[in-house]
Amino acid sequence: MTTRLYISNDTSARAARADRLAEAWEGDARVELVRTSSRGAFFLEPLVEREGPEGRLAWPLARREDLTRILAGEGGVAIGKIPFLAQQHRITFADFGQAAPLSLADFRAHGGWSGLHRALSLDPQEIIDELNISRLRGRGGAAFPVWRKWQVAKDQPSGVKYVVANADEGDAGTYCDRMIMEGEPFRLIEGMLICGRAIGADLGYVYCRHEYPTAFHTIREAVALAQAAGMLDQDGRHFQLDIVQGAGSYVCGEETALLESLEGRRGEVRAKPPYPAIAGLNCRPTIVSNVLTFATVPSILAKGGEWYAAHGTETSRGTVVLQLGGRVKQPGLVEIPFGATLEEVLHRFGGGMAPGARFKAIQVGGPLGSLFSESHLGIRLCYEAFADAGAILGHGGIVVYDEETDMVELARHYMAFVADESCGKCTPCRIGSVRGREILERIQTGQGRAGDLVLLRDLGETMKATSLCALGGRAPYPVLTAIEQFPNEFRKK
Ligand SMILES: Cc1cc2nc3c(=O)[nH]c(=O)nc-3n(C[C@H](O)[C@H](O)[C@H](O)COP(=O)(O)O)c2cc1C
Repeated sequence: MTTRLYISNDTSARAARADRLAEAWEGDARVELVRTSSRGAFFLEPLVEREGPEGRLAWPLARREDLTRILAGEGGVAIGKIPFLAQQHRITFADFGQAAPLSLADFRAHGGWSGLHRALSLDPQEIIDELNISRLRGRGGAAFPVWRKWQVAKDQPSGVKYVVANADEGDAGTYCDRMIMEGEPFRLIEGMLICGRAIGADLGYVYCRHEYPTAFHTIREAVALAQAAGMLDQDGRHFQLDIVQGAGSYVCGEETALLESLEGRRGEVRAKPPYPAIAGLNCRPTIVSNVLTFATVPSILAKGGEWYAAHGTETSRGTVVLQLGGRVKQPGLVEIPFGATLEEVLHRFGGGMAPGARFKAIQVGGPLGSLFSESHLGIRLCYEAFADAGAILGHGGIVVYDEETDMVELARHYMAFVADESCGKCTPCRIGSVRGREILERIQTGQGRAGDLVLLRDLGETMKATSLCALGGRAPYPVLTAIEQFPNEFRKK
């Protein structure tokens, strides 16, 4: 008799040597291996699971020599009793870690395509109304109401419209889009099909960052499987879905630069308006949305907008998907209703600081996100609280820094990043980021001049007010919040 063992095939699990276990046990006649998506508890990988009397049992940080006790059922912990997972409230990631990513049968068994089936029973306006009720906002960073964008695109008279999944996921410390594409690619496809039906589009693209080779191949394979199973042909219409690989540019995650890149040009930002929902790809109405946004849509259609809106806070409905990284004890993916404080997340899920590390700062929202010191840990993770604090939730990346971190170097690093990644179209970003980097380099090497901090603040305010897109517009935030909260470090250099 063979025992079925589940091991994640996610890139992060493989980085923690999940492949070595799989290779070691593959030929064993007692074992049937299934490579799955990941639960996102990366600090427990490689995590081996098998069925138990009351659901899955797990063996965290498994080693080759653990096979005998795993087969004997010794020492496993019930998956539902792992606090990191048990305390979450997952919607989009609810089934992660259980199924083989490219198995259509597994996807169906976990309720896959039920959102699409419901959408097919509604007319396009009813689909959009359901999203309006859900109050889902885009998860790519700008947090724009999803229904409103879909409504604009639907109302355009054009015969050609596009659905584009933004899978550029350039923010350092974010990985939930990658997990979706590697782990439940059919869910992304389902969300895009629903969008296509709602706005009247038959053409779609997934724009996947170059640095995600596994995600790229998995989503491509998933499209081929979905097509062979007839899922791209609904109601007598064929949805053509292609996967395109970016060339490694951060600014190509900005929706208009992404469209330029898709059209075969340099990834330069376009002036808005017109917005892509009116004139996007090839000047046609286009919905550009984040992978996580699309992947959230099927549950809303399947279970209803009201059900989704019942989670979260007044203006931030549903769940927030956080990606914990940096110097925490328990890095990984956390999906919870909006509204928890940063401190709760850091302790309840992150498990506090890594051994020997002391907290210094936390950054939310990627390289353009604000830095918070200990006194700000009470801030709630929701759009309204972050807007009040002049900060952004972005794509949900949270990076924790310890006391060894040199804040001047960190600020310099982020400004240098923007100087490297600026598309060059607007002067405040192109020139401002270079001047900002030069000032920070001066301070970093002890050659700061009187008035440099005032100059940096002035430059920051100009970039915020006049840049064409949020790359230049948000670049000053990590720098200015670092100066505000750690002023002594900038003075003593
Ligand atoms: C410099 C820059 C980089 C961005 N990178 C991404 C990205 O990697 N992924 C993403 O979904 N949105 C990114 N955005 C936001 C997009 O412009 C756009 O708002 C988003 O794709 C819309 O999707 P949503 O409505 O689902 O949030 C970026 C924006 C800027 C200014």
